[in-house]
Amino acid sequence: MKHLLSVADLGADGIEEVMRVTDSFVEVSERAIPRVPALRGRTVVSLFYEESTRTRLSFEMAAKRLSADTMNFSVSTSSAKKGESLRDTCQTIEAMGIDALVVRHSSAGVPWQVASWVGCPVINAGDGWHEHPTQALLDCYTIRGRRGSLVGLRIAVVGDVKHSRVARSGVLAFTMLGAEVTIVAPPTLLPPSLDGWPVEVSHDLDSVLAKVDVVYLLRMQAERQSEALLPSLREYTARYGLTRNRFDLLPDDALVMHPGPINRGVEIAADVADLPRSLITRQVANGVAVRMAVLFLLLGSEPRA
Ligand code: NCD
Repeated sequence: MKHLLSVADLGADGIEEVMRVTDSFVEVSERAIPRVPALRGRTVVSLFYEESTRTRLSFEMAAKRLSADTMNFSVSTSSAKKGESLRDTCQTIEAMGIDALVVRHSSAGVPWQVASWVGCPVINAGDGWHEHPTQALLDCYTIRGRRGSLVGLRIAVVGDVKHSRVARSGVLAFTMLGAEVTIVAPPTLLPPSLDGWPVEVSHDLDSVLAKVDVVYLLRMQAERQSEALLPSLREYTARYGLTRNRFDLLPDDALVMHPGPINRGVEIAADVADLPRSLITRQVANGVAVRMAVLFLLLGSEPRA
């Protein structure tokens, strides 16, 4: 595999391979000096046209733990502000001699375009409402860590599916690994068509909760909503928020997940987010090791031509 653009590029076998390599990098991350020389002399550049806390820092930490050099392109302080095109920007950065580009952009498809312009591996760190493959990988890894496998698990993905790249990549990955996914959302927060989505759909969270192994909450992505899709956030929380009462409807061993950033009190109650069965910080911790695995698999074997 040359790039990581979609979860579909990996297939079930590819996801399993990432999981296996991640196991060894979790071990590295637990060492007193959590660093290996695997990518010494390589340079990984983050090209983020959209804001990010976790994903950008996680890729940076992953690259550093592999001893790669890292550079960060931040739109607000770059010549993109002077009107330089995306293509010229990518080719300029590539001309400096880099080994990988990690790309986030608010438009779907941009990482594919970038991959067609540059010679180095490109990793999609989130494109519009479309895909976020490393998030799906770290979520699979986190579930596997608690349950051993995803085969036969029932996962409810709840909330603003329409605007969620996390949901698109997650549903693909979870079902490829054998989980059964139910999407739970008000009709206005579903994509216009769910053709080809291997999921069940429900509008009633209360009836779903008693039967799930994992409840995966999505952030209410207000910045992506140009029209009024909800009567109010309070009404959304009343029907779809994971309140403490709803948490108590879950089976005793069910897990709670969220990609972050969380809106406490909207899609998840503040106290539920901090319960031991909430894996939100475990997801973040695993994200570093998963991204180490992705960088290693894409860059580890061949030195730059
Ligand atoms: C998500 C993103 O930006 O796609 N966050 C993340 O990467 N962990 C989800 C979100 O913004 O809601």
